[in-house]
Amino acid sequence: MSHLTIAMPKGRIFEEAYQMLIDAGFNLPEEVEMSRKLLIEIPEEQIRFILAKPMDVPVYVEHGVADIGIAGKDTLLELRRNVHELLDLKISQCYIASAGLPNTTMNEIAPRIATKYPNIAMNYYKEIGEQVEIIELNGSIELAPMIGLADRIVDIVSTGRTLKENGLVEYEHITDVSSRLIANPVSYRMKSARIQELVSRMKNIVG
Ligand code: PRP
Repeated sequence: MSHLTIAMPKGRIFEEAYQMLIDAGFNLPEEVEMSRKLLIEIPEEQIRFILAKPMDVPVYVEHGVADIGIAGKDTLLELRRNVHELLDLKISQCYIASAGLPNTTMNEIAPRIATKYPNIAMNYYKEIGEQVEIIELNGSIELAPMIGLADRIVDIVSTGRTLKENGLVEYEHITDVSSRLIANPVSYRMKSARIQELVSRMKNIVG
């Protein structure tokens, strides 16, 4: 059996995805999610987990230091790394939307869009024929319209609470997001039996 390295996002997605692997029949210790270790070896299953920042998972997989990984569709669309998308795990479902202050139109001459997804935002506004200036931020995006930094934000909406509590409304639904199983193209060829077995076991338990 070939050894498999899996890159996982830290935090809630890790816990959900790890539980899915247990449900799919992998023999993994129940306790591991409580630890703060970033490299976890499971010798019984010949599996090693790398725990990474969500945006870094496709980077590890593209470079082949992880054979497979779990990445949000948002990070895949934003980073456009050379990885194979194998399966929609249907966890962490949310969407990307544009939002802003209620009853406002965008500045006609130079609309500004604040986001941590500059590529997704740029593509979206290009598609609908709007010329915009993208202002890239790393978090707390919802602040931007409130303090006059941007006309609109492009960000993840999950429950909608963050928008509501900051007095913003949604304008356009841009794309749906969920966690995906991805693979390094070389690993996918070299370890195809191992990876395909994992995919088919995961498929059985995806809702
Ligand atoms: C995301 C997103 C919103 C919030 C939306 O942020 O940027 O702020 O979640 O969730 P809601 O619709 O359920 O309120 P995240 O928690 O990933 O933190 P970040 O801003 O640090 O990226």
